[in-house]
This record gives sequence, structure tokens and C-alpha cells, in this order.
Amino acid sequence: MTTLWSGRFDTAPDPAAFDFGISFGFDRALFEDDVNGSLAWAEALNRAGVLSAEDTSAITTALQAILDEGRRNPAFVQGPDEDVHSFVERNLVERVGDAGRRLHTGRSRNEQVSLDIRLYLRRRIPPVQAAVARLIQACVDQAEAAGEALMPSYTHLRRAMPVLVAHFYMAHAAALRRDYARLAVASSEADALTLGSGAIAGTSYAVDTAFLAKRLGFSKVVANSMDASSDRDFVASFLYACSLTMVHLSRMAEDFILFTGEEHGFFELSDASATGSSMMPQKKNPDPLELVRGKSGRVMGRLSGFLATMKGLPSGYNKDLQEDKEAVFDAEASVLASLGATHAVISRLGLHPERTGKAASGLLLATDVADYLVSRGLPFRRAHEVVGAMVRKLLGEGRDFADMSLDEWKAASEMFGDDAPQAATALASVRTKRTPQSTNPDAVAAAIAECRAWLASL
Ligand code: ARG
Repeated sequence: MTTLWSGRFDTAPDPAAFDFGISFGFDRALFEDDVNGSLAWAEALNRAGVLSAEDTSAITTALQAILDEGRRNPAFVQGPDEDVHSFVERNLVERVGDAGRRLHTGRSRNEQVSLDIRLYLRRRIPPVQAAVARLIQACVDQAEAAGEALMPSYTHLRRAMPVLVAHFYMAHAAALRRDYARLAVASSEADALTLGSGAIAGTSYAVDTAFLAKRLGFSKVVANSMDASSDRDFVASFLYACSLTMVHLSRMAEDFILFTGEEHGFFELSDASATGSSMMPQKKNPDPLELVRGKSGRVMGRLSGFLATMKGLPSGYNKDLQEDKEAVFDAEASVLASLGATHAVISRLGLHPERTGKAASGLLLATDVADYLVSRGLPFRRAHEVVGAMVRKLLGEGRDFADMSLDEWKAASEMFGDDAPQAATALASVRTKRTPQSTNPDAVAAAIAECRAWLASL
């Protein structure tokens, strides 16, 4: 196999060194982007007076045929080539001879590979965002289906205050909304044309970079050719967006692993998205959620691994950067599969409102009881003490607020009126919340409506 650079050398490469650097096994994913970049480059060379009309049309026709064949038959995109760029050029030269040998005029693989990954991310980020939106949709649907069902919220994994089950689902939707936006940021970081940078110093041919940018769907051209040859910030941004998405999926997985277990029993895993045990017939395991949680470590590893790859590089292209591609492809595949699996679980979850409601009553209403006293004029710190003493007594007796007689309320503080027991219910608790981000049922309904409108606008 000859390479794009073998003319300079008088011995054949040692496979232990050469094969080590072959990237075609994975960069074939960039095939379509590479051909599209070359189609645009041929046009730019023609406009710059470098390629004749005949050569340009021969190249364009052949590249289009190569693209069609590769799309029709993915098995076509393989061979002994060093990388996808070499593969495309070899096929081009096989078809059109010297015209094909003119295509790489004024261009380097350094800018070409960066261009390809940018084009790749620009087209592959939207489907990841669509998968995020689909999961958000499932959360909103579940939130709406939950109606005014109540559940406890937790801090320190101890019961804190009652919330609507819908509020809990919308909490996860809120985090996923940020992931959607963060993916858009990664896409906009990839939005710059590298062609015209040459290997590092620029190109001496009069290529119209503004035309090329427009032709390839970029809104701008990179600012500096030296920076461009080694800049992979946009790759790190994508890996970061994927990592935080996985962090959120992992936390969601953790919540539902806990809440579908026997100890909580708040939600019911569908048989369709659970797994059994080879030994224990009673088991219904949340394997998909556990695997999502597990894969989050892998995606974060891709981010931290690639940051480590970048940090020691001297200015200009270095082969280390070839490591960007497997990181991108693996993070993308992991996040897409995890979003799909999480959607399968969430969209089929059942709710046990009697269990969530029961868990949302009891001593976690203590703050509401204190707020009642505050509404009667007692300073909050004093109210906290009064209610703290009530809680201590009730705990000792194994009772809660609901078991107290009116006399007992009044004995605890003369500020408790006849309506005090009604204030100490989970539903009253959520209804007294006032802020737009709170679990007040009207606020939650507004959040659901806002989220539905956002989904409809996509
Ligand atoms: N396979 C290489 C990469 O992924 C393409 C660029 C090669 N450039 C070079 N000067 N060796 O980075």
C-alpha cells in the first residue's frame, strides 16, 4: 500500500509502527464529511483558477459517485488505507487519474480532519438533542399523568418536604433542558471553517474562504491557522455536553433504582424494561438503569482522557489528536444508547400513588406546622423550637401530627387554632408554596405547559 507521503521515504514502513497509526478502522465514520469537504474544496480551487473546468467536473462527478457508492454500500468504505482521507483520494485517482492527483493542492490533512469532525458534529449533534427532547417529553407526559399525586422529597436522602410527583419528574426535565442547550453550544463551537489553514501557516492559493464557509454551512472561518491545526476545543465541548448529560441520566437512574425497589415502592418498572435473575425467581431488576449509571463513568472518562491528551501538545498539529475521534464516536454512541434505554424505562413507569402519598405525610410536615405559627406572628426561630419539641415528643410516642387531638395542638402552643390540623397535610403543604419554581400545583402546571410549548417549538 502506498501512502499519501511515501515518496519521501526509501524503505517500506515497519508494520509495528505504521499499522499503529492507521485510523481508517474508525475514521471511516467521517467518510461522508470528507467527500463533502473535498467537493467544496474542488470548487474553491476552480474559482481560484487552480483547477481547470474539466478537471473540476471530472473530480466532482467522481466524488459524487464515490459518495453515492459509500452510502449505498457501507462495505465499500474499507481497505488498506491509512485513513479516510487516503481512501477517498485513492478512489478518486483510480477513477480520474491526474485530475484526482490535483485535488490536494494547497490543502493539508491537518485542516481536513478538523473540518471533517466539525462537519460530523454539526450533523450528528441534532439527533442527540432530539433524543434528549424525547426523554424530556416522556418526563412531561409522566408529570401530567401523575396529576396531584404527592411524594416526599429528600435532602441527605432523608424525607424533607412533600412535593407533587409531577414536580419530581419536571426536576429531571429541567436538567435535561440544560443538556439540550449545552449540546447546541458544542455545535456552535464546531461552527468554523478550517480550510485555508493549510498544514499550519495558511495556503498560498487564492481560495475564497468565505465562499467555502457558506458552501459547507459554517457561519465563520477560523481566526488563526496555527490555532486551527491543533484546536479541538469543540471536541472537548461535545464530550463535556455528553458527560453532563450522562451525569443527569445517571442521577435519574439512581432515583428510579431506589424508588422502584421494595423499600420505597413508589414507582413500578414495566416488565418490558426490567430484567430477571437467573437464580432468584422473584427478582425484577432495573438493569437498564444500572447500565446507564455505569456508562456515565465511561463517557466522563472520554472527556478527562481527551483533556489529558490535549494538555501537553506543542502548537500545531500533532498525531496525538487522532485520539479525538474514538472519544467522540464512543461518547456519542453511549449517550444515544443511554437516552434510548432511559426513555424506554421512564415512558413505561407506573405510579403507586397510595405509597407515595403515605410517605409524603407525617413528620416531614414539620416545616409547614412551623410556617403556620409564623403566619400567626411567631418569629420563625421560636416556631422552629416549638415544632421541634412537638416532633421530639411524637417520635418518642411513635405518632405523627395526624394523630394529635385538638387539645394536644393547643397544649403545644396557644397560637394553634382549630384549623391547625388541616394545615399539617401534604396537599396543604404544596398548596401553600408561592414561587414559580415551587411545587405549588399551579406553578407545576405552568411548568408543564411551558415545557410542552418548548417541545412543540423544536
Ligand atoms: N488520521 C489523522 C488524524 O486523525 C489525520 C491527520 C493526519 N495528519 C498528519 N499530518 N499525519 O488526526
